[in-house]
Formats: sequence, C-alpha cells, structure tokens
Amino acid sequence: MSTDQLKNVISHAKEYGYIFPSSEIYDGLSATYDYGQNGVELKNNIKKYWWMSMVQMHENIVGIDAAIFMHPTTWKASGHVDAFNDPLIDNKDSKKRYRADVLIEEHIAKIEAKIDKEVAKGIKRFGDDFDKEQFLATNPNVQRNKKKIEEIEVKMKEALTGDDLSKVKDLIEELGIACPVSGSKNWTDVRQFNLMFSTEIGSLAEGSNKIYLRPETAQGIFVNYLNVQKSGRKKIPFGIAQIGKAFRNEIIARQFIFRMREFEQMEMQFFVKPGTQKQWFDYWKETRINWHNALGLGEDNYRFHDHIKLAHYADAATDIEFNFPMGFKELEGIHSRTDFDLKAHEEHSGKKLQYFDPEENKSYVPYVVETSIGLDRMFLAIMASALQEETLADGSSRTVLKIPAPLAPIKVAVFPLTKKDGLPEKAREIINELKFDVECLYEEKDAIGKRYRRQDAAGTPFCITVDHDSLEDNTVTIRDRDTMEQKRVPISELSEIILSKVSMKRLLKN
Ligand code: GAP
Repeated sequence: MSTDQLKNVISHAKEYGYIFPSSEIYDGLSATYDYGQNGVELKNNIKKYWWMSMVQMHENIVGIDAAIFMHPTTWKASGHVDAFNDPLIDNKDSKKRYRADVLIEEHIAKIEAKIDKEVAKGIKRFGDDFDKEQFLATNPNVQRNKKKIEEIEVKMKEALTGDDLSKVKDLIEELGIACPVSGSKNWTDVRQFNLMFSTEIGSLAEGSNKIYLRPETAQGIFVNYLNVQKSGRKKIPFGIAQIGKAFRNEIIARQFIFRMREFEQMEMQFFVKPGTQKQWFDYWKETRINWHNALGLGEDNYRFHDHIKLAHYADAATDIEFNFPMGFKELEGIHSRTDFDLKAHEEHSGKKLQYFDPEENKSYVPYVVETSIGLDRMFLAIMASALQEETLADGSSRTVLKIPAPLAPIKVAVFPLTKKDGLPEKAREIINELKFDVECLYEEKDAIGKRYRRQDAAGTPFCITVDHDSLEDNTVTIRDRDTMEQKRVPISELSEIILSKVSMKRLLKN
C-alpha cells in the first residue's frame, strides 16, 4: 500500500458517507473526525464482532461501561499524571513539531525498507530457488542493516528510559535525521509533554477541581475489578471488557483516523494468578491474531512487534502491527501488566483489591494480561485493504469496497428494474421481509449497471434485482459484490443465501 492509497481512502470515505472531517463547515478541527451514515454502521459492526468474540464466546469474560470522567487520583495511581509523556522536539527552521522517538522509528523503517529491497532483488535473481530464511541469515547487506537497526534500538532504549533527554537529541543528530518538511537538521532540545486533556468539574462558586478526560479505558476496568468480581462471583482467571472513548492531546495527530485526539478503544483486562501470566499472554496473542485473520484481510498484512522498551509495569508486551497505507504500524497492544495497576490503586485508595483463591487458600493481588485495540485504527485497516480498483475482463474498471461481508454497513440493496408495473412494490415487499435480519437499502434511480457499481463502491455485498418475471414466478436476480456473479433464485431462499455470507457466526467460527 502507499500514501496515495491513504488519499484515496480519505476521499472515498467522505464520498460514500463513511467519515467526514469534524465540524467541516468551520474548516474542521485537526485530528477529529465524524463517522457518517455508513461509517457508524461499520464501526458498530466491528464493535459487535469484538464484543461477541470476547464476551459472548468466553464464559469467563464480562463487559462494563465505566464513566469517562474518573476521580483524579486514578490518574496519579496509574502513573499518567507523572509519566504519560511523549518526548517532543521542534525543528527550528520549519517550526514543525515531532515526537522524537517517532523520528528515530521512521529512520529504522527506512533501513528495514532497504532489507526488503534486497529480498526483492534476491527473489528476482533466484526465482523459485529463493530461500528467504537463508537469504536473511547470510546476505552481507542484510546483515549489515540488521546490525545497524539493533544498535539504534539499543541506544534508543537507553536514551528513552534514562532521565537525560539530551541523549535522545544526540541520537537524532548522530543518525543525521532531518526534518521531513524542510530537510533541516536544526533541532531544539527534546522536552516531555503530558498527553492528558484536563478540565474543571463543578461550578466556580462551589469550588472546582481539575479532572482529566480518560486517556485509556483500562483504568475504568481496574477500579471496578472488585465490584465485578464480587457481584459476578467471578473466579480467577476472568476478564472484564470495555469499549469506549479515550482522549489524548497527541503532539502529531495526522494520518487520518490513525492518530486522533478523540478515539475509541476496545480493551480487555484478564485477571490471572501470579506466575501464570506468561501462559495467558501467549493465549491472548494467539486468540487475537486469529480474530484478525478470520476477517480475511490477508495474513501477510499483520505482524507481531515485541517491545524492546518495556513500560515499567510490564513484564511482556507485543504489538499487532498492520500494513497500513503508511507501512506497518501498531493496531493492537497485548501487555502483561503484572499487578502494577491494582497495587497502585490499593495504595492510593487505601482499599484492598485482592482475590481470595480457594485452591491456594490465600489472598493475592491478581496479575493482568491486557488486550487493547484502537477501534478507529481497525476501521482504517479494513477500509484501506477493502478499497480496490479492479480491471474487468472487458477492459473496463470498477471501484469496489470489499469490506468483510459480516461487517458491511448495508448487506443488501434491492432494485426494481423500472419504477412502474408493480416492481417497486415487489421490491419493498422483499425488503420488508429481509429487514428483520439484515440492513437493507432500496434504490430505483439510474440504470441497473450504474446501481451495481455504486453499491460495489459503497461496500454492499449483495444486490437484488426485481424484474417483470419476478411478479410471475417469485424469483429475482441476486448479484455478489466480490465475484459479480448473478444468479436467479426464489425469493423464499434469499434470506438463507444472504445470511450464510453475512452472519457474524461465520467470522466467529473461523
Ligand atoms: N491500555 C493500554 C493502552 O491504552 P496504547 O498502546 O496506548 O495502550 C492501545 O493504546 C491502542 O489504542 C493502540 O494500539 C491503538 O490502536 C489505539 N490508539 C492509541 N492512541 C491512539 C490515537 N491517538 N488515535 C487512535 N487510536 C489510538
């Protein structure tokens, strides 16, 4: 994928009612977006797929919906007040601001691209005899670049985990990193910037207090751990899932809905017995990648990226990265967070957050394995891989949005061939039956071919055409978005044909 692909996705998303810039009539607000009539349906379907796979398919996971505003001490306990910072750096010539760590990661990505280029050359040279593993392990250019990456990663880890931010600037200068806008290497010092938005609660007369908009949904789960455990009589291991808004004052918020200041997370905290966290970390890595692969966006588009720089509370962490139009980037995080959060809340609240284990006959603070995925990033991953330009057998081309059928906003569009002779009434009759199972759309304007193309571009998996024969024999033509195959079928079989492809069960069984 390429950055041109990102531009195509942005304009397509707007044209087909998926995503609009927020408050566009006032020229928009940076890094905030509104989901349109089709966008909200796709988003709801992604949430449903996640919720069903987490909560409905696991008898030991339940959901909650905690408030966005939380007691301010929550964020002291979680470490966000003191440490939810990004290292920022400005270029003195272009006046552009960057995350210092991202500049270094982009430099690493360029070296990785050189390795990919070597591999491509190898494939060209050796054809079917090409052995990628062996090539990666022996080619001198690849080896040299791999070593370079390792060295940079070690230095980056040292610089970012130490207290001295000047080391981060030194590394940027040592690597000769230039401002992507001006090409200048004239950098300011690196400074820390807290990402939490704050506001005041209560009227001034009452005396107001500073509170924060939550930067992650996870803390709403931690503070409710005991409420859920006790009221739900939950035995460890068990999980709590939540979907909701989170807010971060990102330094560089760009790349469309990839990095926003207001976004949604789907998070799950899995509470386990201390000592078993590695086993559960591996379980969730596998379970989550299977969830992604079942969508059919292409297994090659995903990869794990194990963290070299572990947060102070984690004993293992990995990202599931997706091949976005801008390259491989984080889509989901899986973190083994030890007992850090619950212990910190115990200390700050003075309340015990422990579990009495009847098998061990003792109480302990559970360990936590977290899965955390950005809903908007998942949306972008789906849109970017679904949007395709196809050349057809007759030489013409079509734009098609191959959203996985169970997630598509509209599942069926029903067209009367003409606007008269009772065909519209017959089409409405079909919709009135199908709408109990799936989202339908009625369309009678333009020639049938044009209506098909419009629904292809909107992502609708099925189109049904009602013609004069339909009035006689109760059959219709059903057309498949992906294969463009058209079949004549009895109206009575429509529901079964459509559900076999669009039901969530298909994904969940995978
Ligand atoms: N509770 C753990 C946590 O919040 P994170 O890696 O900071 O971890 C989890 O965020 C996920 O949230 C990321 O993998 C990403 O998909 C999404 N996310 C984070 N910041 C985002 C932003 N500014 N815009 C959109 N999605 C974001």
